[in-house]
Amino acid sequence: MRQHVNPLSSNFNQIERIPALREMFGDSKLNLHLDIGCAAGEFLFDLALVNTSWNYLGIEIREKLVKNAKLKVLEREIKNLYFLFGNANNILNDVQSKFIKKNLKSISFNFPDPWFKKRHYKRRIIQPEFINILSNSLQKGTLIFIKTDVKDLFDYMDFTISSNFYFKTLDKKDFNYSQSFNPNKVKTNREKYVIVNQLDIFERIYIKT
Ligand SMILES: C[S@@+](CC[C@H](N)C(=O)[O-])C[C@H]1O[C@@H](n2cnc3c(N)ncnc32)[C@H](O)[C@@H]1O
Repeated sequence: MRQHVNPLSSNFNQIERIPALREMFGDSKLNLHLDIGCAAGEFLFDLALVNTSWNYLGIEIREKLVKNAKLKVLEREIKNLYFLFGNANNILNDVQSKFIKKNLKSISFNFPDPWFKKRHYKRRIIQPEFINILSNSLQKGTLIFIKTDVKDLFDYMDFTISSNFYFKTLDKKDFNYSQSFNPNKVKTNREKYVIVNQLDIFERIYIKT
């Protein structure tokens, strides 16, 4: 399995059909959370099985991972979890995803690919244009969670989001996780690795105003 794919490759220009929320989920009225770059989706399976009052949507650019995750959802008959394959930038920029953005309560970017070389920064998932799209289409009060172990990437993402007038930082100390998409603070695979290896974690929460 390829570890990295170039999200700017023309392979990802076409996106898959995005079904209506009622086709994705058993109860489309539940709170909706989106995890961007969800890999094989283990984090979302853990969340969806426990937090049955939330719907979870994962977007991942590696097609094989999404195919396997979709099969697992069907086999286990999980009604509050759905996966979409593709470049999240292209998916969320497409008119088909308008209803998703309108219905989101929160979005997480967990340990996105850092793309360390300066000439590759354009491949990073968080870009000013992308944050503009989100600020133009998310409802007031929608939360964005970012988390990474790469300080330079954190600074870049934080600067990009904070530069948008409509996103304000929330103080993590005052944040009540029990009402969030992740009340039990389930960890992603990368986060577990980072903790075992005693690396730093940089994280921040923003609210759309
Ligand atoms: C470092 S992994 C982190 C996986 C997981 N979130 C975690 O914390 O363990 C980053 C993931 O984002 C995916 N990814 C990178 N760019 C993407 C994009 N533009 N759209 C969707 N997924 C993307 C990668 O394929 C990879 O699975």
